Amino acid sequence: YKSNTIHDMHNAYLKGVPLTMCTAHDYITANWVHEASCDMLLVGDSLSMTSLGYDSTTDLPFDEFKYHVRSVCRAHGPSMVVVDMPFGSFEASTEQGLSNAIEVMKLSSKVTSLKLEVGLHTRDSYTINLIKEICSRGIPVMGHIGLTPQKAHSLGGFKVQGNKTLNGMVELQETALLLQEAGCWSLLIECVPHKLAQHLTSRLSIPTIGIGAGNGTSGQVLVVSDLLGMKQGSVPKFVKQYSHLCTSAVEGIRSYNSDVQEGRFPDKDIHTFKIKDDLWKSFI
Ligand code: KIV
Ligand code: NA
Repeated sequence: YKSNTIHDMHNAYLKGVPLTMCTAHDYITANWVHEASCDMLLVGDSLSMTSLGYDSTTDLPFDEFKYHVRSVCRAHGPSMVVVDMPFGSFEASTEQGLSNAIEVMKLSSKVTSLKLEVGLHTRDSYTINLIKEICSRGIPVMGHIGLTPQKAHSLGGFKVQGNKTLNGMVELQETALLLQEAGCWSLLIECVPHKLAQHLTSRLSIPTIGIGAGNGTSGQVLVVSDLLGMKQGSVPKFVKQYSHLCTSAVEGIRSYNSDVQEGRFPDKDIHTFKIKDDLWKSFI
């Protein structure tokens, strides 16, 4: 199966065609994303909360994440696979970051790009430099700026970024330009005001993928469990829900329960196997 390439993404960007990206956390959801012909599929560390039940992405063990990457990569289809570098896999040293970057790439030949969260350059020159090193090894990197959940504590919580101070806006723009210079082929911009995300997009010559960043970016990304309503409870303001899988799943399982309890399932003619009459008589 032919998968999309970074070259394809860049061509669409140059033509002004919006790029679509959706997360997947296992073989089933990955098949859905491919079947729907998303341009890109992100194995995001948000699976820590959405499908593993941890409280934070910082709780996610690297081994458990890699298990999910392998599961996603068993699905075949057109969507280009981008994989998060989870918390703890790259912060200790450039050597650690490089060897784990290579390890993630080696999980499957389908892994086309890594994604790394980056703080403002004034406090995170480490990650910008690491990205430069990773890119210099021929490993494509999507930078992730704005609200970076792995660094939520240092941001003082889950807050919109670049909406309060002039300095914050200037530093976000400088960070975006430094990441482009470091070799990122694209940037993910999370929870940044529409106007600023649009402005950053116009200042860059690489595509921007937005989430909670308005419609002025080069593309969009959503978390599959939010988009499809796979879990109980509310979703963030910037999400549009296209299905309510949780509701229909619970309804389905409830109907199964009552069918069993009230004798409607299994049906004695449909959901069963038969035995030849003469064979049965000789047995009984
Ligand atoms: O982990 C994730 O799902 C992300 C989002 C920005 C889509 O990084
Ligand atoms: Na992520």
